[in-house]
Amino acid sequence: MRGPTQEPARSPARTYCLTLREEADNNNPGAEMTKDSSLGCAAVAHPVGGFTERKGTNLLKPEMEERLNEQFNLELYSAYLYYAMTAYFESLSLKGFSHWMSLQAQEELLHVSKLFQHINDRAGRVVFNAVEAPPNVWESPLKVMEAAYAHECLVSERINEEVSFALSLNDHTSVTFLQWFVAEQVEEESVADDIVQKLKIIGDNSSALFLLDQELGQRPAVSIDAEAGDA
Ligand SMILES: [Fe+2]
Ligand SMILES: [Fe+2]
Repeated sequence: MRGPTQEPARSPARTYCLTLREEADNNNPGAEMTKDSSLGCAAVAHPVGGFTERKGTNLLKPEMEERLNEQFNLELYSAYLYYAMTAYFESLSLKGFSHWMSLQAQEELLHVSKLFQHINDRAGRVVFNAVEAPPNVWESPLKVMEAAYAHECLVSERINEEVSFALSLNDHTSVTFLQWFVAEQVEEESVADDIVQKLKIIGDNSSALFLLDQELGQRPAVSIDAEAGDA
């Protein structure tokens, strides 16, 4: 029996991965290495991270991993943007708008979690890049909601691009995963545009704005099951 201080036996694949890792550390610290999924060396592609030997047919290809990391960053920005909008509504004492938008931000964080989990599940590496600073001031509640709607349209475009890219790689696992976001974006665009249209009807009528604020304040809390369920 092996004692506690003895090094565990290495499989040929693990030995190969360790050799690659040592070469990277010695020759070019921090350099990206080629992922060799045939040997289950997914984590070797990320010398900045820990070493984990993984095998399987669903490992992320580096180019898809990069795309999903960009989406991860965009979802973080979405949350950042919506919390900035929440703060703006708070400054106007529009508590209902503020409540609605804070829930929107929370939904985005669930999207972030969903991507985080998926990248990890496929032996990818989540990369944390700088999140762009959002605007802090808008001209009016209508301008805020128009900006939110435009942002959701941008997110939809990006999601569609990722799906097309995944298809070009024959990466059906990513396609299936992203389909949840495709469906989600239909609702995201619709609810934002609905409020835009109501604000256009309201115009300068403060009484009507008050009533809409009351309505938005009734939005139920985010359902984690619905937002972060299996995809
Ligand atoms: Fe999102
Ligand atoms: Fe969204």
